[in-house]
Amino acid sequence: MAEKKTPSHHGVEEQHDAQYPNQTLKLLHERASCRSFFDKKIEPEVLQSILEAGIHAPTGGNLQPYSVIKIEKQDTKRKLAEMCGQDFIESAPVDLLFCIDWYRLKRWAALEAAPFSATNSFRHFWISFQDTIIVAQNMCTAADALGLGSVYIGTILEYFRETKEMFHLPDGVFPVVLLCLGYPKGERRPRKKLGVDAIVHEEKYHEYSDKKLEEAFEQKYPDAKFELNERRLETIYEVCKAVHGEEFAKQCIATIKEQGFINQAQRTFGLHYRADMMPDGNEDFLRIMEECGFGWFREWLIPQGKE
Ligand SMILES: Cc1cc2nc3c(=O)[nH]c(=O)nc-3n(C[C@H](O)[C@H](O)[C@H](O)COP(=O)(O)O)c2cc1C
Repeated sequence: MAEKKTPSHHGVEEQHDAQYPNQTLKLLHERASCRSFFDKKIEPEVLQSILEAGIHAPTGGNLQPYSVIKIEKQDTKRKLAEMCGQDFIESAPVDLLFCIDWYRLKRWAALEAAPFSATNSFRHFWISFQDTIIVAQNMCTAADALGLGSVYIGTILEYFRETKEMFHLPDGVFPVVLLCLGYPKGERRPRKKLGVDAIVHEEKYHEYSDKKLEEAFEQKYPDAKFELNERRLETIYEVCKAVHGEEFAKQCIATIKEQGFINQAQRTFGLHYRADMMPDGNEDFLRIMEECGFGWFREWLIPQGKE
């Protein structure tokens, strides 16, 4: 989060009276995450129509390998809020936990005397991850369309084991993301994004010049200059040294001192999403996958006479 006296890294779009061809496009352009909710229940029929809208999302092979846990109990929301360190998980009237779910399909296959190996397939894990996120995003858009607001909580990835236990997730079910839903309190302003020019490549991937690349980020984060202090410098030095060695760390600090501030990229990868910590826990992640009943990262040996 941005600290005091520094411009927000959350740069927002200027207010404008843009004209959109229709309400769907207006909604998509003007959407923004919502982290403050009125203490107002979501009417069951409103929630139901959001859920119904979501399940019409596309999925690979139309298999729908996902489940959604609807969480309304205050105690459960509080536990999640404490676990993830984000209060609005509790203040949102509804939290939705989106999970990959191959368990239901495995059971169906067993009941119908059909073969099943999807939890041992990287391809199927990959597709089902996308399926799950697409459903979640369709529910977000449906919620926006009905005057609600929402925010994803990715932090549950630090608590897969706890989440599995809390929600009794069987093997083959993997929690992906949490979504807080409710009636938005206060104004939300769309955040600045990299423009289409920076994102879309004509026919083939196009290498941008340094200048164009810098301009694109400059437009996204105008005036992003973060105050220098000893503590921040020390952290950035440590991070750079751990990732690219001492020489790079010295260069980075010299650049910061010369420019007189910490720039957006240095803040993003040196202080906020620390580059030295990013790869932490990769192995544990695979262990957790295994504990959740997945084996796609191992060589698949056809079970002899089992299952
Ligand atoms: C996968 C994912 C995980 C996220 N996790 C969190 C989170 O844990 N806490 C939070 O406040 N926002 C979270 N967000 C919201 C992002 O911060 C937000 O989408 C981003 O800053 C852009 O702002 P916008 O949604 O208003 O355009 C997450 C978003 C996504 C897509």
